[in-house]
Amino acid sequence: MSTAAPSGSLRLGVNIDHVATIRNARGGALPDPVRAAHLAQAAGADGITAHLREDRRHIRDSDIERLMAEIALPLNLEMAATEEMVEIALRHGPHAACIVPERRAERTTEGGLDAAGGRAHLGPMIARLRDRGIRVSLFIEPDPRQLAAAIAMGAPVVELHTGKYCDLLDAGESDAATAELARLAAAAAHGAAGGLEIHAGHGLTFANVAPIAAIREIRELNIGHFLIGEAIFVGLEASVREMRRLMDVARA
Ligand code: PXP
Repeated sequence: MSTAAPSGSLRLGVNIDHVATIRNARGGALPDPVRAAHLAQAAGADGITAHLREDRRHIRDSDIERLMAEIALPLNLEMAATEEMVEIALRHGPHAACIVPERRAERTTEGGLDAAGGRAHLGPMIARLRDRGIRVSLFIEPDPRQLAAAIAMGAPVVELHTGKYCDLLDAGESDAATAELARLAAAAAHGAAGGLEIHAGHGLTFANVAPIAAIREIRELNIGHFLIGEAIFVGLEASVREMRRLMDVARA
C-alpha cells in the first residue's frame, strides 16, 4: 500500500468485503462499499482491501471498477490464482494483488496458500502481475517452506495468516496461542531477513491485535470482518480510528 509510510510504521488496510455482503443480502446498491472506503480513508486507513471471489458473493466487478476510479488510497485486490482473476488484475492495475487460496464452500479464506506446492502454477502469474507494476503478495501460513517458496518465486510481499492465532485465543487456549504468536514473529523475522515485505491479517479484533501489531517486521495489517461488525454499533469511522489507535499504541 502507501509506499510513503515512514519506515517502521504499520499500515492499516481496511477490507470492505462485508459491506458488500450486507448489500448483497437484499440485492440493490446499499450499503455502498465505496462509501465505506471513503469513510475508512477519512478515519486513517492507509489502503483499501477487497476480495473479488470467483462466486462474487460480496465484492462485484463493478465495485473494483469504482474503487479504482473513485478512491485515492491504494487498492489491495485479493484474488484466487486463476486466469480469470489475473486478467482482471491486469486490466485494472491495482496497487497490490494478494493471492489467496479459495474454496467455494468456505465461509472465509481458511488456511494459507500452498506456495511451495504451487510454484509451477503461481510463478508465471506472479511474473505477469509484477510486469504490470502490481505489488504481489502471497497469503501464507507462518511456515519457513512457504516463505522460501515466496522468495524463490520473486513475490515481494507475503501476508501471514493470523487466523489460527485468533482462533486459539477465542478458544481460551492461551499457551497454544502464545506458541502460534511466536511462530508468526519468527516467520516475520525470517521473511524480512530474506527481503520480503511482511503483512498480516485474518480474524484481527480490538482484543487480539496488539501482539501482532507489536511485531516490528510487520508493515501492514489487513482487517475487515471485525471492523465492519463493530461499525454497526459505533460507526465505521470510530471503528477504524480505534483500530488505528490500538495499532499505534502497540507499535510504540
Ligand atoms: N487478509 C486476507 C488475505 C483475507 O483473505 C482476509 C479475509 O478476506 C483478511 C485479511 C481479513 O480478514 P478478516 O475479515 O477476518 O479481518
